[in-house]
Amino acid sequence: MITDLLAVDQNHPDRSSIERAALLIRSGRLVAFPTETVYGLGANALDPAAVQSLFAAKGRPSSNPVIVHVADAVQVVNVASEWPETARQLARHFWPGPLTIVVGKQPAIPAAATAGGPTVAVRCPDHPVARALINASGVPIAAPSANRSTELSPTRAEHVWKSLNGRIDMILDGGPCPGGIESTVVDVTGDDVQILRPGLVSRAMLEMVVGKVHDKAEAGSGNNERLRPADHAVISVARSPGQLARHYSPKTELRLVDSPRLVDDLLEASHVGKRVGAIVFNGEVPALEAAKKSVIDLTGDPIAAAARLYATLFDLDQWQLDFILVEEPPLSSEWDAIRDRLRRAATRSG
Ligand code: TXA
Ligand code: MG
Repeated sequence: MITDLLAVDQNHPDRSSIERAALLIRSGRLVAFPTETVYGLGANALDPAAVQSLFAAKGRPSSNPVIVHVADAVQVVNVASEWPETARQLARHFWPGPLTIVVGKQPAIPAAATAGGPTVAVRCPDHPVARALINASGVPIAAPSANRSTELSPTRAEHVWKSLNGRIDMILDGGPCPGGIESTVVDVTGDDVQILRPGLVSRAMLEMVVGKVHDKAEAGSGNNERLRPADHAVISVARSPGQLARHYSPKTELRLVDSPRLVDDLLEASHVGKRVGAIVFNGEVPALEAAKKSVIDLTGDPIAAAARLYATLFDLDQWQLDFILVEEPPLSSEWDAIRDRLRRAATRSG
């Protein structure tokens, strides 16, 4: 298959490019497009064969359900069988934006999109290209991140190209995604709101709107702070479909370590002639002056760090390193999403 790479203006995508992409979506084909979080790989969410080909292109296990993207809250009626008050409030505050809401599904949504389950994950993205594409297609768009399964999520068109060239029909290149990591996924089907995957909308932001929210065991935060990655693997498989323990991984081995250990490991690696790159979050690594060029500081601001995280890991992956050291991010809740992704990236199997 030839993959078309089409550049579009990120704020004002031209009509003819969007129409070409929308025609592909309507014909059951696969189009990668930018969102405010990461690039998504889109298919007509109402077309079972199209959704199935999404899984094939990504090599994604059929047990991992995908997010269905809508143009606005009105289009939710075609996707969700219920829209509880909490969903209404969350959508009013955070849509369009990086929040995915899990609710009961409409029969029209194929089982492949929901891993055979009774619920569907819905999100209204806040990116002019994504919104233009959904509107022009006239259908909800199922879109997981546009990468092969377990790899890093793409934040630039070139990442999508490297991972999926020849396996999909088109990539709309709308430049880098501003957010840099995936949406927060919340489940509102029970009595309380539960975070299934931490993301760009923090727990504190959610709680300002709907009061206390809970973390699912696999979310890697709050009361599960002390779980080791191996424990995460067991719990995540048991509690939530498709929350793979190993995910979001660069090809190079990634080791998540505390700051003193990072310094020791880096110095030791340089003594024995190993090639190592490191990511830190505080900018205060005086002991590392000598190794400065292999140390990347993503800063102590979680929003800025998220925006650069995957692109930095993609870059480090090109350097033929023996391994990548990453400093454990701070324990406060605004780092939940970054901590979750790094723990999964550091897990070698599962
Ligand atoms: O920011 C994002 O969310 C990006 C962009 C493209 O929108 N999409 C994304 O999709 O990250 P994906 O497929 O890589 O991740 C979807 C997550 C997975 O953790 C999956 O298990 C969860 O959402 N999910 C999807 N449907 C679900 C459902 N019905 N119940 C529980 N979790 C669900
Ligand atoms: Mg993904």
